[in-house]
Parts: sequence; C-alpha cells; structure tokens
Amino acid sequence: VHPLSIAIDGPSGSGKSSVSKAVARSLGLAYLDTGAMYRAATLWVMGRGIALDDQVAVARAVKDMPLVQVLDPVSPGVELDGIDVADAIRSADVTTNVSKVATNLDVRGELRARQRAIIDQERATGGFSAGRGIVAEGRDITTVVAPDADVRILLTASEEARLARRSLEVNGTANKEAVDSMRDQVVRRDRDDSTVTQFTVAADGVVTLDSSDLDFDQTVAAALRIVAKHA
Ligand code: C5P
Repeated sequence: VHPLSIAIDGPSGSGKSSVSKAVARSLGLAYLDTGAMYRAATLWVMGRGIALDDQVAVARAVKDMPLVQVLDPVSPGVELDGIDVADAIRSADVTTNVSKVATNLDVRGELRARQRAIIDQERATGGFSAGRGIVAEGRDITTVVAPDADVRILLTASEEARLARRSLEVNGTANKEAVDSMRDQVVRRDRDDSTVTQFTVAADGVVTLDSSDLDFDQTVAAALRIVAKHA
C-alpha cells in the first residue's frame, strides 16, 4: 500500500483533534497530536520548577524530555517518564501556560524534529500503522512540519462556534458566563500562538474546511471527501 500522510491545522476549538482522530480511525492510519507534545513539554518543565521565561533552561529540559506517544486514534496515549499524563496535560494550568513554552523557538526546533521522525516512521514500513500512514494535527503541520503531506487541511470555525464548543467540552454548558470563561483559553491563547505559527489563513495548496455550520459527523465526512479528492 502507498502510505498516506494527512496534515490538519487549526485554531483551538476548531475540532481538529476529534476530527483528525475520526479520519485516522476511518482510514486505518496512525494519529499524532502535536499539541499534546507542547502540552507535555509544559508539564515537564513546570514539574521541574523551571521558570517558563528562562528560554535556555526550558529548551534544555525539553531536549531531554522522555516523552512517548501512542499513535492509536482509538486510544491515543501520552507518557512522560513512563507515567500516563493524558489527563494532566489537559489541566487549566497547562493550557494557560502552554503558549509560553510553544513560543520558545528552540523548543519548537526540538519538537518539530521529533514530529518529523514520527511522520517519516509511519510513512515507512514499520510503525503503528504498518506503513499505511498518519494523520498529524496541530498549528504548523501543513506549513512547517509536513508541507509535503499528501493532503493538507486547515480546519476553521467562527470564534463564536469555537468558544461554544470548548465551553461545552470543559464546562458541560455553553451559557454566556461559561463561554466567557473560555476566552483566555481560546482567544488569548490563539493570539499568543499566532506570533510563531500561522493557522488562521490557509497557505498555498492547503484546503480550508469551515465547520462553523457543520456538526461533528458532517465535518468528518467533509474531511474524508477532501482526502479522497486530493490523496
Ligand atoms: O491543540 P492544543 O490545544 O492541544 O495545543 C496546545 C498548544 O500547543 C497550542 O496552544 C500551541 O501553543 C501549541 N502548539 C503549537 N504547534 C503545534 C501544535 C500545538 O505551537 N503544531
């Protein structure tokens, strides 16, 4: 079989992770959550008492980070030093601080190299997918990490739709107060992330999928149509 590589970028609350997992499941591909790597780096650095604005110390710690990811889209795993941190990396504390670590350019260089190695491994005969390929999602996969991917998608949604989705996910409701409480985790974080990655406008050759008016199943179906057309 010819290995397939699919890159999906988008802002927070766009539904990238759930859509990417569903696409990977449906096509029998591996799934790489690159946001989880930046989150794990943040947890790792915070756990060692390193000041997040100490660029050199942060980058040095991330270089040695013992991170292992399970690329199974049915139950993706994240382990730091052998410990399951899948829940810990989603804490409000990590979410609030992750942009500080992700805007460290040496950290980006280290994680980009690891991402690239994982993508290449899934395109070769070994790996989780046994050479079928991979869906990798994040902020700079279509542009920097895998601009050579077979299919590249920018998944967008209106700010209103993204805030409501995140609020439902985190607070279980999308009333006004709950939605407002998500602004720092969504709008401010995207603004900070945008200083080092470009995920609001599709780069050349990248297909935009706007999910503002689509439900989850419709979005997955639309993504699979894009894959079928461009792969
Ligand atoms: O997608 P998720 O919300 O889990 O991403 C967490 C953070 O990781 C983002 O806010 C961003 O700071 C960083 N990130 C990045 N580049 C990527 C993926 C994530 O900078 N490719």
